Formats: sequence, C-alpha cells, structure tokens
Amino acid sequence: MSKAKIAVLVSGGGTNLQALIDAQNSGIINNGEIVLVISNNSSAYALERAAKAGIKSLVVLKKECGSQAAFEQKIKDALTENNIDLIVLAGFMSILSEDFTNDYPERIINVHPSLIPSFCGAGFYGLRVHEEALAYGVKVTGATVHFVNEIPDGGKIIAQKAVEIQEGDTPEILQKRVMEQAEWIILPAAVELVSKQIVS
Ligand code: GAR
Repeated sequence: MSKAKIAVLVSGGGTNLQALIDAQNSGIINNGEIVLVISNNSSAYALERAAKAGIKSLVVLKKECGSQAAFEQKIKDALTENNIDLIVLAGFMSILSEDFTNDYPERIINVHPSLIPSFCGAGFYGLRVHEEALAYGVKVTGATVHFVNEIPDGGKIIAQKAVEIQEGDTPEILQKRVMEQAEWIILPAAVELVSKQIVS
C-alpha cells in the first residue's frame, strides 16, 4: 500500500510531533508516514524526538538564510527532494507567506490551541493563546486543526475539540489540558483523514 509522505515542521518541544509518531506506531495513522522533520530552531527538543524515532531531520534557520523568501525556498527544496505529499505544522512558530501556501493547496495542515475563530491569527501562538483565553474569561476553549492558506489560522477547518476551563487554571495548566484532551487526539486523526484522501 502506498502511503502519503509527511513532513512535520516544528519549533519547540514537539509534543504534537510525538503524538503523531505514537499514532503511527499504534496504527491510528496508517495511510501516511512521517519521513522528514524540519525545525527552524536548532535547540528544539522535537529534533531529539525525531532522532529517537529514526526520522530524518533538518534545521533551517531564517537568520542564516537572510530573507523570508530564501528561508521558504530552502524548506521547499527539502520538501521536493523528499517527495513530500503532506506538510504538518506542529508547533511551527513562523508564518509562511502566500507564495509558500499557494504552492500547497490543501496540503498543509496546522494545529492551533483554541477554537478558531477565537484567539487566533498573527500574534496568537503557544502559551499566549491560553493567557488570552483566561484573560477574556471564556469557560470553554479547545483546539482546531485546519488547512493552511495565506491568512494566518484562516484556512478550512478539519477538526475541532472543546475543552473546559476550570477554576484556578493557569496558562500552563490550561495548555497541558488542551494538549491532552484535544490536540494530541485531533491532530493524528486529521493527519490520517487527509493522508487517506491523498492516497486514494
Ligand atoms: C501547541 O500547543 C500548538 O498547538 C501551538 O504551540 C504548541 C506547540 O507545542 N501552536 C500554535 O500556537 C500555532 N499558532 P509542541 O511543540 O509541544 O507540539
């Protein structure tokens, strides 16, 4: 059976990458295979997770490339060389330009730690999203997996899952609950769904 070749783009801890690796090992992801991890941060722990799983990885640093265009070109070259079918942004903290996203229509997916259209768009990433949700006082938050287009967090939604906010939550506690109850479940499920569409 042919599988969709997946590249996962990361910047930090890589718990979502780990959820994808675990889902591949347990058979939740069956129609896709992670063949490449690209990080824009050389000290990202995600790189160790890739190494432990025997997945090839590559570091692409924007400051070494000199421009956004050169940075994106280097990523594109790696995607082409590895015959990538599907790009997964899993905690990738860099906004890709329209030039990049236009080349991969419905072939880039992202996980975002809120229920889009709340607490999303440029400037809303990582812990910041949970700080804003708590400051606003919402009682329910969650996570969203969506296709990536030229609008930050603006592409078609693939999956969402709600998570309750509890009395006494800190941004860190809430982030962990959203990951455990939503992100690590809906991201692998969405990757399998899209991989299946690609190979069939
Ligand atoms: C995750 O919560 C992910 O949803 C978020 O950053 C965290 C990365 O954690 N992504 C964004 O905020 C993108 N706008 P991880 O490196 O442990 O997967």
